[in-house]
Amino acid sequence: MCGIVGVLGHHEVAPILVEALKRLEYRGYDSAGIATVEDGRLDRRRAVGKLVNLSDLLVHDPLAGKSGIGHTRWATHGAPTEANAHPHRAGRVAVVHNGIIENFRELRADLSGRPFESETDTETIAQLCERHMEAGMSPREAAVATLGALEGAFALAFLFEGENDLIVAARKGSPLAIGHGDGEMYVGSDAIALGPLTDRITYLEEGDYAFVTRDGAEIHDARGRLANREMRTIAPQAAQVDKAGHRHFMAKEIFEQPVVLSTALAAYSSAGQVTLPEGDLDFSNTDRVTMVACGTASYACAIAKYWFEQLAGLPCDVDIASEYRYREPPVSPASTALFVSQSGETADTLAALRYARGKAGRILSIVNVPESSIARESDLALPILAGVEVGVASTKAFMNQLAVLAHLAILAGRQKGHIDPTREAELLADLARLPALLNQALALDPKIAKRTGKLAEARSVLFLGRGPMYPMALEGALKLKEISYIHAEGYASGELKHGPIALVDKTVPVVVLAPRDALFDKTVSNMQEVLAREGRVWLITDATGAQEAGDGVWQTLVMPEINPIFAPMLYAVPAQLIAYHTALHKGTDVDQPRNLAKSVTVE
Ligand code: AGP
Repeated sequence: MCGIVGVLGHHEVAPILVEALKRLEYRGYDSAGIATVEDGRLDRRRAVGKLVNLSDLLVHDPLAGKSGIGHTRWATHGAPTEANAHPHRAGRVAVVHNGIIENFRELRADLSGRPFESETDTETIAQLCERHMEAGMSPREAAVATLGALEGAFALAFLFEGENDLIVAARKGSPLAIGHGDGEMYVGSDAIALGPLTDRITYLEEGDYAFVTRDGAEIHDARGRLANREMRTIAPQAAQVDKAGHRHFMAKEIFEQPVVLSTALAAYSSAGQVTLPEGDLDFSNTDRVTMVACGTASYACAIAKYWFEQLAGLPCDVDIASEYRYREPPVSPASTALFVSQSGETADTLAALRYARGKAGRILSIVNVPESSIARESDLALPILAGVEVGVASTKAFMNQLAVLAHLAILAGRQKGHIDPTREAELLADLARLPALLNQALALDPKIAKRTGKLAEARSVLFLGRGPMYPMALEGALKLKEISYIHAEGYASGELKHGPIALVDKTVPVVVLAPRDALFDKTVSNMQEVLAREGRVWLITDATGAQEAGDGVWQTLVMPEINPIFAPMLYAVPAQLIAYHTALHKGTDVDQPRNLAKSVTVE
């Protein structure tokens, strides 16, 4: 998945394209490039690695022109080399692409004999378009004919030699926005990219293509008919945030959690009752909740499953989006389908939402970006109000996803008569105590920093938890592997003896996330099984748990006491800090770890 941008402006576009690409770097940072048309001449610059390399290149080898397209890449087809970087060019055509062309092998075979330079699927688009132009088609006709041959998911922008005032934009499966300026026009993967340029946005719909000129955009639907798409005025996009004195965005975002959590708590409750910041929600006729998400967001859902079951007595399924859709699960009209996504653009989650549409009784989403595709395609989109999250490793968004999910479970509990208003108020009071508890957990940062040195030497780390701490263990392991590149796995404590315990020896640290809850004694037994095999246990528990755990643990981190049902929210903090400090010890790129992107917009 990648970020694309296009500008038909009145000024030199290279710096504008690079600025817009900066705002899209969350989609990938394997390489970047731009192409412009200057006096009818098409030219491009591309550089491997982060955008800063392209900026440096442009200082030494500038690119003039007032029309241009740009791209930041997360490699799918072909390694992150300059040859594979976008824009791809064939003769008079340059193309930037987000998505995957599934029939590119057939297309490429059909184009054999043409001078391909890259291993990408995208270059076939440029070659095909150029071939149509060689056969006498105009740029517009050639682009439309090319689109007709493409299978898969894409957002595309074409730029043509000899055309100072034309970008052809197209969308199928991947989102694309058109921005309206004053005598200028823009194209971008999302509204964030275009934020500083305009607040007037038209979103292309599935199958749409547009001829964009400085006068406006002529939009056609998938059947080629002229289409009238609404132009929206969107809320000003948050400016590029800074690190507020922290070394990394991830650290800043971890330390912001008490504040952003307070914001969510205030928005979702009032006077001891759950309230919603917008819309109505009635779970009384819902007989099942299905939650679908990817990565960290899916672990938030897995934690919330315990809440919906225990607080609302509601059967609840949690699915990974990439599996859900293709399994073709039956979806009851009496069910509520809930899609959780920080970015709101994750391709698998969006596809899963589309699968459930028309089948589930209601499509809800929990997102951090209200203008995102997932939000726009939901019956009700609930914001997590976490503010812009820049670090690829999700932290504060996870916290606020949990906050919103906890409120929904309590609301469902009251509406289904599973809990009474007194219990609702007690649970909300427990949640209200959390920001202060998070601050106490954050105060453990220096201790955690000191203790992670040894973890950084490990080749493999296990995380254990029971009940809602099990998905928290999965999340702890994901955080560690994402940014420290250390192999890590999360297991349900009771499951260890069914196989994974074979991994345990004195070189394998085992992080046990275990507040003193009703199952604590059982977790201690599982810990003893690890200790008996010379495993090094790092126990994270509260004061009572620390007292009762017995001897032999490698190290103990004492956390504040909390209602165990909400413990995952509190224990997220040490899990995040362990990953962060281990990554610092290892010297990895914390905010933009290798091979990853903030938003995964391909399947
Ligand atoms: C989190 O640390 C990850 N980078 C990743 O698992 C992420 O949570 C996942 O890709 C889902 O993203 P979304 O919330 O934007 O849909």
